[in-house]
Amino acid sequence: MKREDFPILENKNLIYFDNAATTLKPNCVIQAMNDYFCYYTSNIHRGSYDTAIVTDYLYDSARQVVQEFVHASSPREVVFTSGTTHSINLVVLGYMKYHLQAGDEVLLSKSEHASNILPWFRLVEEIGICIRYIPLDDNYSLTYDAVLSAVTEKTKVISLAHVTNVIGDVRDISSIGKLCREKNILFHVDGAQSIPHMPIDFLRDSIDFLSFSGHKMCGPTGVGVLVAKEELLKEMVPVFYGGGMNLSFDSQGHYLLKEVPVLFEAGTPAIAEVLGLKAAIEYLSSIGLDVIMQYEKELKAYFVSKLEDIEGIIFYNKDSDSGILSFNIEGVSSVDVAKYLNSFHICVRAGNHCSKMLKEDMVIPSTVRAGLYFYNTKEEIDLFVSALKNCQRVFKIVSE
Ligand code: ALA
Repeated sequence: MKREDFPILENKNLIYFDNAATTLKPNCVIQAMNDYFCYYTSNIHRGSYDTAIVTDYLYDSARQVVQEFVHASSPREVVFTSGTTHSINLVVLGYMKYHLQAGDEVLLSKSEHASNILPWFRLVEEIGICIRYIPLDDNYSLTYDAVLSAVTEKTKVISLAHVTNVIGDVRDISSIGKLCREKNILFHVDGAQSIPHMPIDFLRDSIDFLSFSGHKMCGPTGVGVLVAKEELLKEMVPVFYGGGMNLSFDSQGHYLLKEVPVLFEAGTPAIAEVLGLKAAIEYLSSIGLDVIMQYEKELKAYFVSKLEDIEGIIFYNKDSDSGILSFNIEGVSSVDVAKYLNSFHICVRAGNHCSKMLKEDMVIPSTVRAGLYFYNTKEEIDLFVSALKNCQRVFKIVSE
């Protein structure tokens, strides 16, 4: 599907299955960024000349494109950041730090990415919040019932990935959002691994804060988004101060800041990258997120069925509902498997995938991870499986 849109895929030998780490970039994204560099390079919100006016228009209209894509209420709810990590840090250090108190509970899970764990550790140190981990089930997935049972009177925040980056379980964010509304709990969703692959509805699902990255959804690196309810943004404190976000300041230390969302975008933003992200969202929307999700499910089922025959294969999440598949080959380290696959020009990731607490439950330090996307094909899966066929035997011979 749409392979011809990706110049890197002109290399017919390349099999790119590392889409949970970052995705390939289509021509329209490259073109959007290239046009900015070639025809109207200028800063935003500062210039009164023609090219600056064009850039202002394109940058500002990107907010609306994001708003419509995630079904937020207004473009004022869309803050451009450098990526999911930046977005989550902004939520934690710009909002939660000033609204939580010692003893308040934040519910996370052990399968969260580092970026949805470490910023919260700062608040444990700084203000004494209490982190509790919602237990995972036997498949390392998080059920709604587990979330419900974990909530106490002290729970003030639930912060969860919509789709986790190793297990790829799809969390029931609609029900969790509803629960949060009923119990007056703030709900932050890390959408890094879901937004590129499935539809999301910020408003309907009662999400308060939503973080995601451009580069995992066919967009460029260096740009991401925080979508937040406008009333919450208005209570959020900037983490960065500088040009573009202030109205005035004087030598007495008085200053006035601009309104949301630009007061969270101090300095010159990643303009080309925002324009690239806009093009990526328009591109994904033209295919349809429902279509992408269905196709990936079909590919994953095919992938699992073919891999079942591989000698020594250990699956960790074959039933999860996303295109992420984590596995090992018995007796071979995950890094060796990844290097072996590389000799067939196949790209996967090996290791703990920045999800370093999951090993406490899984009892294994690392896995091989394949992440599928809409431009992958069953033919690529056949080549992958055929490459993997002799992996265990080869490493056994080498180690003898
Ligand atoms: N967060 C990215 C991953 O899971 C880099 O690989």
